[in-house]
Order: sequence, then C-alpha cells, then structure tokens
Amino acid sequence: MRIGSIIDGIERKEENREMLPVLNPYNQEKVADLALAEKKDLEEAVSNSFETFHSTMKLMPAHERSDILRKAADLLEKQAENFAETIMLEAGKPITFSRAEIKRSVQVLRFSSELAKHIMGEVIPMDAAVGGENRIGIVKRKPLGVVGAITPFNFPLNLSLHKIAPAIAAGNTIVFKPAEKTPITAYKLVHLFQEAGLPKGVLNLLIGTGEEVGSPLVAHDKVHKISFTGSLPVGRSIRENAGFKKVTLELGSNSPNIIFDDADINQTVTALVKGAFAFSGQVCISAQRVYVQKNVYDTFLKEYVKQTKALKIGDPKREETDIGPMINEEESKRAKRWIDDAVEKGAIIETGGIRDGTVLTPTIMTNVDKNMKIIGEEVFAPIVSVIPFDNEEEVIAFANDSIYGLQAGVFTKDIDRAMRLADQLETGGVWINEISTYRQDNHPYGGVKQSGMGKEGVKYAIEDMTEIKFIGIKRNG
Ligand code: SIN
Repeated sequence: MRIGSIIDGIERKEENREMLPVLNPYNQEKVADLALAEKKDLEEAVSNSFETFHSTMKLMPAHERSDILRKAADLLEKQAENFAETIMLEAGKPITFSRAEIKRSVQVLRFSSELAKHIMGEVIPMDAAVGGENRIGIVKRKPLGVVGAITPFNFPLNLSLHKIAPAIAAGNTIVFKPAEKTPITAYKLVHLFQEAGLPKGVLNLLIGTGEEVGSPLVAHDKVHKISFTGSLPVGRSIRENAGFKKVTLELGSNSPNIIFDDADINQTVTALVKGAFAFSGQVCISAQRVYVQKNVYDTFLKEYVKQTKALKIGDPKREETDIGPMINEEESKRAKRWIDDAVEKGAIIETGGIRDGTVLTPTIMTNVDKNMKIIGEEVFAPIVSVIPFDNEEEVIAFANDSIYGLQAGVFTKDIDRAMRLADQLETGGVWINEISTYRQDNHPYGGVKQSGMGKEGVKYAIEDMTEIKFIGIKRNG
C-alpha cells in the first residue's frame, strides 16, 4: 500500500517522491509506504485551503457543517473495526485500547456536530456608558480561516479529531499534518470526511516531515491558527515561529497522582495500573509520579507491584494484550536509559525495567528524587515512580515542583481536603478519586506552565478557533 498527501481531493503519491516506510512497531513488518510531501505541496495546500475558506467554508450554514460532522460520526461507527485495526498496526496500540479510541472519536464528532449549531454571540448593553443610549452593540463569533493541525502518534484518530472536528464546526478550513509514524489513520480519516460530504479543499492532508512541511506551515502568513499536540521543544519552537497566529499547544506532563490514607487502596491501585501503563505510558497525562501517604505506602506498593506483574505483555493484535510495544526502538532504548540513569543515582526497580526490542516491561521505581529524568522530565513510557509523603502541605509542594501542569489525580474520601488540593495544584485539570490519565472529550483540556496554552474539549476548541467581531449600530431617532 502506498499513500500520499491529499490536496483539493487529489492524492499525491507519484513514484519519484521520497518514500518512507511505516512499520508495525511490534514486529517491524512494513504496513505502508509514504510518498512524502515537499515544500511545494505545502504551498499548494495552504493556498487551496485559503481559497476554499473564502469560496466555500465561510459561507456554509451551520446546519450543513453540523450534518457533515454527524455523517462522519455515523460512518466512523460503521468502519470502527477497520480504523481500530489500522491504529493497532501502525501505532502498536493494543486492539482493545484502539477500539476505545474509536468510541471516543465518534463522540468528538457528535459533540462537534451538536455545537456547530450553538456558536453564540451576545448583545452588549451600550447604554452602560454615558452617551451610548441610542447605540446597539452586537458580538458575533466568526471562523478564523485556515487552521494548521499538527498531531501526534499516540491517539492518531482522536487527537486529530479534537482539532479537525471543532475547526469544521466553526467554519474553518484545515491543513492537517499528522505524525509520520501514524499517517494511515489520518489518510483514512480524510477519505471518511470526503464520503461524509465535506467539500474538497476543506481538509487538506500533508504527509511529510516537520522540516519540509511542519515548520513552513507554522510560519505561513495565510495560516491563521496552529493547533499542536506533541513535545515541549517542538511546542516552544512553534510559539517562537508562529508570528501573529493564534496558537494552541498541548504539550507534555509528568502528572502527579496523590493517594491519602483514607482512599480505597485496592480500587486506587487498579486504576493506577491502567493510569501508568495504558498504551505503554505514551499518553500526555499518564500517571508518572504517584505520591502515597506514609502509613499506607507499604500496602499500596505491594499491591501495585502484584497487579502490575499480572499484566499481559505481547502482540497488540491479541484481545488479551495489556502492554504492547512502544512506538519504536529508539524510544524504548531512550526509556531504558532513563531507568538506568535513575538506578545509578540510587533508585530501586520494584518490577519491570526489562527491554526487548520495542517492548519495555511495565516498570515501578522507588527511592527516586527530582534530579532523575524519570521524575523531572516527561517519561512517555511505561515507567511510574512511587513516593511516600507525610502530610497535605508536603505533597502539594512535591506535586507542584514541576515545569509541567496538565492534569492531576487526588484520592481521598475527605471532600474538604479534596477541594483544597483541587485549588492548590498547579495543573489545567484535577480529578478527585480518578486517575490523572482519565479524559472525557467534552471537558476543557489543556495545561498551565510548560504543559502548553489554550484549551481543547470541543466547546473550548471552538472558542479558540473563532474570533469575536463587534458590530455597532447607531439609532437615529
Ligand atoms: C494526550 O496524550 O495528550 C491525550 C490524552 C487523551 O486524550 O486521552
């Protein structure tokens, strides 16, 4: 299978292009060849999206945008297994987790379809100012124009839809640059939208490298917004090069989860096994730092190790597999180096720490400190650290001692304490009695500090993908 970019409905996959293989991360078998986009494709895609915005999209009524999104949701439901298998093959995500991603993606499309009809403005009380008695002020929400959507490999469908579906709901056009490691899902998604009736040129796909198409997309004057999910260094460079564009950045995290001694320990452990190891920890809000109150620390750790050892490791296509491969060997080697670095500095491996090709066994570390990369940086791997604490004040200081602030989890039966933590934790979101890793697609999602800027979660993404426009009327008489 050879795939390429899609611009104005036409695929670009000529043989003379530079080719890049897409490999199954578990067995390294080739899944597809990518015909890579070049700079001139980027120019064409942006110009076409710009023209399509002015000729088509900004004129399309809300009910039509809503219908297209609803049809896309219906089609995705019908093609769910095909999409799940594609994600499993190119991302190495265990099949049950891949199916869960499709279910969430259908919801993102349905939320977007509903909200396309509720993009509201307001009327300003102009008589609030002296002399404004005969004036009427109207605020409307207008689409921005061309949105550049740059997406990662870890949720190749859902995180793409968190950008594309709100952009369509708001009446924008999109130039979509997916991760080169997971382009097939993106390619199928563009075809699905075509089938749903999205006019050609509204969603242009560029499959290419960051250097060749990502950076020029960010800097392009005809692009009005960049919405990016990915690493901190790339996010920083986007912020520096985006000029006057709006920018939404969903970056990394080393999410804290805090367990007080009144929490239900068994339930919390079960949740945190998933929270730290789902998709081999390659999730921005994965539980990375687990703080446990001292008097339940030993009980918690023993149960955490026991339940982690019971996870089934293997081929992501098997129904029973909990842990599959990481995205590639470079990443599994990097994660193993971080474990070795921590051990050299005094950390203890309670379980895991073994690498075989792209697979890293789920790893629990103790005796850690903030000078180790597994604490101070985002691990993005199946590695979690368990750290004892004495009291509330101390654990808030531990949790906030990070450059990141995306989501946190707090486990306690004491509602007053839970609310104090919710207020004091420096993160974009806090879950009480739920893991940091849980995300529902309609709540605001986005970090503070170096975890990024702007919010996703369909309603909030639509707000960020529209501009408010003021219209004033002076009444004569
Ligand atoms: C992420 O990894 O940034 C997103 C996590 C999710 O949507 O569940």
